[in-house]
Amino acid sequence: MAFLDIHSHILPQVDDGAKDIETSIKLLEMLKEQSVTDVIATPHFYPDEDNAEEFIDTVENAYNNLKKETLGKDLPNVYLGCELRYFNGIGKSETIKQFTIAGTNYLLLELPYDEPIKDFVLQDIIDINERLGLIPILAHIERYGKVKGYKKLLKLISNGDAVAHINAGGVINKETTRLCEKLIKGGYVSFLASDTHSVHNRPPYIKAALDMIADRLGRSAANRLIIKSNALLEEIEAANE
Ligand SMILES: [Fe+2]
Repeated sequence: MAFLDIHSHILPQVDDGAKDIETSIKLLEMLKEQSVTDVIATPHFYPDEDNAEEFIDTVENAYNNLKKETLGKDLPNVYLGCELRYFNGIGKSETIKQFTIAGTNYLLLELPYDEPIKDFVLQDIIDINERLGLIPILAHIERYGKVKGYKKLLKLISNGDAVAHINAGGVINKETTRLCEKLIKGGYVSFLASDTHSVHNRPPYIKAALDMIADRLGRSAANRLIIKSNALLEEIEAANE
């Protein structure tokens, strides 16, 4: 069965991820060893600092370069996406549609870490869904466990206004293992992603995380995440036909 990794920083020299094309290829090899068949490259976009046109241009160049360098190699398929940092009013911003994942309606959204999740942030997320017709994927929700407003954020997921992913690294990190388990058991987690940045500091841990989930919560819990990734992969394939 296929496995789609929905969050990675494998494109060379576009953000704090892969520092060169060799690193990109090495990360793809590591993902392949972990049975990842497809991966979405999601470079950071910070609306306060980055220019959208320049970003898209840079990212497309890096993507095409990586495609060229990996042509004919047996590596995971790479699709293009973006990890978009939240900004005030995002729920009314039609322009964010250019940052969706590989031609789908899914948008990978990163919330700030160092401030409470206030009601206007939650409303913005609802608006992304209801006004703009996009499906926000909240990135690595295990990271916000201690942030004020977290319970309300989870409520928003149960209400169907957003979906979420946890990082594979968060599952195997002792500090967040229990929280990840709770989130999976509570039905808050649609996807498991690597969020890989580099070979040594932030390598992909998809296999280790899936094994750990299977050990602690049962094989069916791990399988559900694999099945979810396949369903999104089918949507991506349909959107790119
Ligand atoms: Fe990321």
